Amino acid sequence: MKIEDEAAKEFLNNILASMQGELFTIDKDARITTFNRAAEKITGFKKEEVLNKKCYTVLRSNLCKSKCRLKKTLETGESMFNYEATLKNKAGKEIPVNITTSPLRSSDNEIIGALEIFRDLTERKRLWESLREERDKAQQYLSVARVVIVALNSDGEITLINKKGCEVLGYKEEEIIGNNWFDFCVPEKMREEVKKVFRKLMAGEFKVAEYYENSILNRDGEERIIAWHNTTLRDKAGRIVGTLSSGEDITERKRTEAELLRSEKLASLGQLAAGVAHEVNNPLAGILVYIKLLLKKYKQNKLQTEETEKQLEKIGKEMERCSRIIKNLLDFSRQSEAALRPVDINKVVEATFSIIGHHISLENIRTEKKLCSSLPLINIDFDQIQQALMNIMLNATQAMPNGGDLTIITSAAKGVKIGGSSKDAVRIDISDTGMGIPKENLDKLFTPFFSTKEKGKGVGLGLSVVHGIIDRHHGKIELKSNPGAGTTFSIYLGVVDEEKN
Ligand SMILES: Nc1ncnc2c1ncn2[C@@H]1O[C@H](COP(=O)(O)OP(=O)(O)O)[C@@H](O)[C@H]1O
Ligand SMILES: [Mg+2]
Repeated sequence: MKIEDEAAKEFLNNILASMQGELFTIDKDARITTFNRAAEKITGFKKEEVLNKKCYTVLRSNLCKSKCRLKKTLETGESMFNYEATLKNKAGKEIPVNITTSPLRSSDNEIIGALEIFRDLTERKRLWESLREERDKAQQYLSVARVVIVALNSDGEITLINKKGCEVLGYKEEEIIGNNWFDFCVPEKMREEVKKVFRKLMAGEFKVAEYYENSILNRDGEERIIAWHNTTLRDKAGRIVGTLSSGEDITERKRTEAELLRSEKLASLGQLAAGVAHEVNNPLAGILVYIKLLLKKYKQNKLQTEETEKQLEKIGKEMERCSRIIKNLLDFSRQSEAALRPVDINKVVEATFSIIGHHISLENIRTEKKLCSSLPLINIDFDQIQQALMNIMLNATQAMPNGGDLTIITSAAKGVKIGGSSKDAVRIDISDTGMGIPKENLDKLFTPFFSTKEKGKGVGLGLSVVHGIIDRHHGKIELKSNPGAGTTFSIYLGVVDEEKN
């Protein structure tokens, strides 16, 4: 800037004075030569109070003593841009400011002073402070959450993880952030598959599964089973930029559930033993009779081809029946990993009948099946649903000590309310004409170890296992009972919805 003469100087001063930003100028001796209105407003000093005073005697800054940039500008002619400092106002209060200084030159390019423009940062600092407070608060919420919370960007890198997440994984936050989630936490055997799903999700080809269970690997190489709830994160334009998930560590719960399943399985096998023995005994007895007969005729040399053939065929049929019963039993007693696949519920009902049908008929109970033939497939674990049906059917049998009717009906149910949403389902009704359930017992029925049966007959785990199984399938159980007249258990299981995957 060149200042030609007094008139020009005054003209310039007028412009500076009315400029929007806060500014002042000094001469070579650091005496204030201009002090504009905006500067007056912020500092509380009047122009008259500061003109001709050395700048550092009035506008005391934290940089005055050691690192005065104005001085440097005066000495070197260099401009200094956008540095932060604090100034004291007239009342002695510190104001955070952003400063730019530049030299003022005469027509022959000599430095004759300097200009300082300063911006009040109070408001910006306050905003920043409140943002930080908000962020801290949010982080506090995250850290008290008793579930794992993780956010991934579209590359699958971890951008946020809360305290519980660090605990479960066994790492510090700074060791986790920035890592690829799948390489870092997902067990190798399922890594590629999960990555593929994530890539599809990011490409928008897939809707996020709101709930699923899978394992993660912690620092000690131990697998923890996590139940996840997920949502996709989008930017302002609606593009998918990542995922946010909350996950509950259900490893222990899964273990107890597996324990429960196992013990209830043993209990129902115990209850079945007599019936099964009887069922296998009958064909065996038949076989024995035929064999004795054939042996006798053979010894007497009286075997007749046609008759012998028929009898051998009968033996074969009876043996097949035995091996079918034994196979069913083995299938049922086998420990199996939960696996969901599309299944026709009627097949489960038939399989259950083939195991316990005979046991039921021994108790003088008539059974009836009304199976709808056009049911959609449902995504279930065959063995577990079979166990659930069996538990309910055994209870029904035990509720009819003097005989009665047991009916199973399958049907399609549209728009069933399950867990807040309404979906199409398959319905299974299991009814008995037994003693019924007194009102006061209704809400205790599904609690573990609640039993009204004498020792040896019941341990009170059957219905709690049923409840666990149906819950895991995101289904619903309803119950109607008339004391003295009978009980109906209705199970609803959601139909596979292809689109929603
Ligand atoms: N169909 C039914 N009719 C009457 N009572 C039932 C029926 N099903 C279950 N209950 C009651 O619920 C209780 C709990 O059942 P469950 O959990 O299977 O345990 P358990 O059969 O070992 O007693 C039973 O003891 C019985 O009182
Ligand atoms: Mg039971």
